[in-house]
Amino acid sequence: MILTVKIRPILSDNCYQCHGPDEKARKAKLRLDTKEGAFRVKDGKTVLTPGKSGDSALIRRIYSRDPDEQMPPPKSIHRLADSQKDLIKQWVDEGARWSTQWAFVPPMRRAAAVREKQRLGAQSDRFVRAGQTGRGGIDAITRGGEADADSAC
Ligand code: HEC
Repeated sequence: MILTVKIRPILSDNCYQCHGPDEKARKAKLRLDTKEGAFRVKDGKTVLTPGKSGDSALIRRIYSRDPDEQMPPPKSIHRLADSQKDLIKQWVDEGARWSTQWAFVPPMRRAAAVREKQRLGAQSDRFVRAGQTGRGGIDAITRGGEADADSAC
């Protein structure tokens, strides 16, 4: 979880310029700001393979010394510190956990979101119950009545 919190800002600072939400600026049609993008498989190559940094193109790219391969590209203004590379590698080897919210949502808002979800959950439970009694109500009573009659015989 801590890694998740640390990885996102590194990618955001160093990769999103070319692999982020801006479609026009996007390179290699690769998005690293969405789960689909970061875990995509193209030509049998996986950008991120959870638990296997050795099978992850992203890891190979950030450690590469080949200027044609290296990410961020050497001619860009972006640089990853060795400690940042190691952190990303560690994160991948530990399962590349991807939280859609990236723990970016402040705790207060998250608590509110949970409450809202619970409220909606409770509400739909009520609807389901109402639906069941509405539809099955009479049947249930009739069946109950018959059963009673049977057992009385
Ligand atoms: C200045 C633009 C730029 C930045 C910043 C950048 N990239 Fe790239 N990236 C490219 C370009 C251009 C390509 C396609 C050419 C190539 O394959 O080298 C590419 C390709 C890739 C690929 C291969 C995609 C594939 O399917 O073959 C990966 C993985 C990648 N980048 C990861 C990263 C990561 C991780 C970062 C940040 C640490 C990053 N890039 C930052 C421009 C950028």
